[in-house]
Amino acid sequence: MTHDSVVPALAAHGKLAVTEDELREWGWRFGRVSRAPLIVTIAGDLGAGKTTLVQSICRGYGVTEDVTSPTFALVHRYASPRSAVFHLDLYRLRDIEELTNLGWDEIVAEEALILIEWPERAGNRIPKEHVPISLQHLSDDPSRRVLYAGGHVG
Ligand SMILES: Nc1ncnc2c1ncn2[C@@H]1O[C@H](COP(=O)(O)OP(=O)(O)O)[C@@H](O)[C@H]1O
Ligand SMILES: [Mg+2]
Repeated sequence: MTHDSVVPALAAHGKLAVTEDELREWGWRFGRVSRAPLIVTIAGDLGAGKTTLVQSICRGYGVTEDVTSPTFALVHRYASPRSAVFHLDLYRLRDIEELTNLGWDEIVAEEALILIEWPERAGNRIPKEHVPISLQHLSDDPSRRVLYAGGHVG
């Protein structure tokens, strides 16, 4: 898989301090050019903007349903004309075994767009082929986040 085809040139191998509107615009464009099967991991602290980014990626990908945080279910599945979309939030994952019960192996094998918050909770169960994204707070500007994307992992 070539990441160049799915990572907008704006942030390929780069980092960027973005406002919420800019993050949404970036996510929308990312969703527009995404093609399944694709796994995207989104790391970052609470409130960094992971769910905000997921929502805009889903919009760009063609999901019309409301995209909400899968806090208790850990996984939500959405339909889009292009493929299914899975949104996982692993913040409350208790242990790696719980991934199995969640249907993890089946989900990551789907021809789908798969968006994963708190990917570090899944340890080495994250497939090697994925696009890693990270969002970080900026201590001197509460309205912006540092967005890293497009680095190749695997
Ligand atoms: N530049 C920004 N990018 C993303 N979110 C921002 C930004 N500035 C402020 N915010 C706010 O931060 C919060 C991010 O929440 P959310 O996307 O749920 O974060 P997470 O899923 O990482 O916990 C939202 O309330 C959003 O309005
Ligand atoms: Mg979230």
